[in-house]
Amino acid sequence: MSALTPPTPVATVPVPMANRKAGAAGTEPDASDAPGGARVLVRDLWKVFEHGGRSIEVLRGINLDLAPGALVSVVGASGVGKSTLLHLLGTLDVPTSGQILFDGANVTDMSPAKLASFRNREIGFVFQFHHLLPEFTALENVMMPGLIARRPRKDCRDRAEAILVRVGLQDRLRHRPGELSGGEQQRVALARALVLSPRLLLGDEPTGNLDTRTGRAIHDLFFELNRELGMTLLLVTHNDELAGRAFRKLRMVDGRIQEEGA
Ligand SMILES: Nc1ncnc2c1ncn2[C@@H]1O[C@H](COP(=O)(O)OP(=O)(O)O)[C@@H](O)[C@H]1O
Ligand SMILES: [Mg+2]
Repeated sequence: MSALTPPTPVATVPVPMANRKAGAAGTEPDASDAPGGARVLVRDLWKVFEHGGRSIEVLRGINLDLAPGALVSVVGASGVGKSTLLHLLGTLDVPTSGQILFDGANVTDMSPAKLASFRNREIGFVFQFHHLLPEFTALENVMMPGLIARRPRKDCRDRAEAILVRVGLQDRLRHRPGELSGGEQQRVALARALVLSPRLLLGDEPTGNLDTRTGRAIHDLFFELNRELGMTLLLVTHNDELAGRAFRKLRMVDGRIQEEGA
């Protein structure tokens, strides 16, 4: 299994955290162990796509300051650039201009090799569609980021089990994605994103494909894990009510960000 290539897209492969516990059910993660959240500063971020001979200005000067451990939601009409912003923050794509500072480090200046290892170490991603590997069990899927980072197999297994238990899947470890409900699949995807304790977690409409009740439960889980583990969390959602429960709510309009009362 360790010879496998990462799940598509790249995203969910944060790497080490020296000694942080994954927060198994029934055990409070030890905050003194936790790497905590990243401070993310965005300065005058532009993204222009060239398409069919035309320039599309999707992001038009985004400025943003995410405090370490903050829980921030992002709403906005379809096509307004929410996923584009998340991809840039997740270092999956590069901006046309502007800066992203991650605890002061300018990720827009990093070499591709450095960026890959940085992304693997620091950032977790959960997408609308889970992108789990269908032929592997939940446990194996969640072990994958650790195996890709060449951590010892036992360590990968222990971490994966602990975080799967934490997200409520203690009875589903050996199930394949096709044998899980939509909500369970997203729990696995969340566990995979968190297994190596990233300091920034990005969710791109992770409940967009779920019914209301299941979606609410998944949101609750994101919120709980943010409180417990202290990572900075930016959550794009189409659901205004769920977004309103975040500590801070942002709205994207016309390529820019507006603050809304939380
Ligand atoms: N690779 C690309 N090339 C050209 N246009 C793109 C590309 N990716 C996104 N876009 C355009 O950018 C706009 C914003 O897309 P997106 O960030 O996915 O919006 P949202 O997530 O808010 O629905 C859309 O008009 C989309 O068509
Ligand atoms: Mg989108």
